[in-house]
Formats: sequence, structure tokens, C-alpha cells
Amino acid sequence: MILDILKKRYSCREFSDQQIPGDVIRYIVECGRLAPSGGNGQPWKFGVITDKNIINELTKASSVCYDQSWISTSSLLIALCTQISDYKGDVLDMSRYPSYHHKIKQMDKELYSLISMKGYAVHIPGEHMVLAAMEHGVYSTWIGALDCEIAARILNVTGYYITSLIAFGYRCWWNSIFIGIHCGIELCGDVSKHRLRAKFEELTKWGKMHAIDRDQ
Ligand SMILES: Cc1cc2nc3c(=O)[nH]c(=O)nc-3n(C[C@H](O)[C@H](O)[C@H](O)COP(=O)(O)O)c2cc1C
Repeated sequence: MILDILKKRYSCREFSDQQIPGDVIRYIVECGRLAPSGGNGQPWKFGVITDKNIINELTKASSVCYDQSWISTSSLLIALCTQISDYKGDVLDMSRYPSYHHKIKQMDKELYSLISMKGYAVHIPGEHMVLAAMEHGVYSTWIGALDCEIAARILNVTGYYITSLIAFGYRCWWNSIFIGIHCGIELCGDVSKHRLRAKFEELTKWGKMHAIDRDQ
């Protein structure tokens, strides 16, 4: 059940040396490939990085991921790359946000392309991959804090923006014990009860969602 996988998953920031088998990596990527997208445009590419030298290069250039040295312990990084918008999106965005029609028309086209990029789209295959990995006991953590431009230079990416990286790996035994002690649960158990999440009733509005204030 997907709910069982979701309950096990947490962002792991220390991985063991154990390598992820090739067929598991292919399974993870295949689950990403099957993700839906607007108009089935699939505006993405997936960079699959298992070469430790490249992982270290991305980690060591501290400015790329803002000194997140734990990333170097991962044995697989997947770079989620979003196609750079060619400004055709303006028609869609103008109909989506009619009150901003004139402002969108006046915007610098290059900047518009950048900020209207459908970066969120590639998060759907990304989360497919996270869940597919967890199904195989492979933990992961999303990395959104990165300098997309330096990362693109290191990975030779052109025509696409690296929206996020996801670090994958097996957790190391002390990590699993720590989580076990911390959460007071069995090693492979349900960590979901111990996570800070808004309550179901707090974040769900049934019917018309009137009177939603930020502080509520
Ligand atoms: C889009 C996105 C970007 C994230 N970026 C980072 C990051 O750069 N570094 C990091 O350590 N965790 C990052 N995370 C992980 C979150 O901190 C984590 O998911 C959140 O605290 C909830 O914890 P959990 O995943 O263990 O349930 C990111 C998560 C998402 C979804």
C-alpha cells in the first residue's frame, strides 16, 4: 500500500556505502518516466548520477548546494531538469491569471521564461521516484537549496534548468537506530506519527473553502 510506504519515508541525510543495484535505479527512473504532465508535454529530463567523483564535485563546490556536505554520502543523485519555457506559456499564464494580463505582457521575456518555467511539473516524477525507491528500502532527500546555474555547469546541462536534486541511498545502521530511538518505534516502522504535520482537520476544507486565513 502506498500509505505504508509514505509512513516509512523520511528525509535521510546520512547514507551507507551500499550501492543501489542497477535494476533498482532503472525501476526508480521508470516510475518517474510514467508521471503525468500538462498536455503530456513531459517538460523534463532526468540526470542519473552514480559516479562518486561527480557527486563529490557537486557537494564540494560549497556554493552549489550551500554546504550540505551530507549529500556526498549518497550513492545516487537524480537531477530533475525542467525545460526552459520558450515564452509560449504566456498565453496560458495570462488566461490563468487574468488580472495580471497587462503586467505579464510588459515583463522582460527572458525573466518571464525563467520564472514561468514549469518547475513544479518535474516534482511529480520526482516524488514518484522517491516512493519507488522507498518500496525497495532506498531512502532519499529532496535538495531544493542549490545554485541551479553552477549545478548545470558541472553537469553540462543546457536548455534545461535543474529544478531540484534528489539524493538516494540506503540509510546507515546508526541512522536507523537513531530514528528508532528518536521516534520510539521499531527500526522499519511507521515514522509518520512523529512527524510535524498539520492535522487532517486543519488543512482540509470540505466544499467551498471560504474564510481560509494564513494563520488558521
Ligand atoms: C522541494 C523540496 C526541497 C527540499 N530541499 C531540501 C534541501 O535542500 N536540504 C535538505 O536537507 N532537505 C530538503 N528538503 C527536505 C525537507 O526538509 C523535508 O522533506 C521536510 O523537513 C519534512 O521532513 P521529512 O521529509 O523527513 O518528512 C526538501 C524537500 C522538498 C520537498
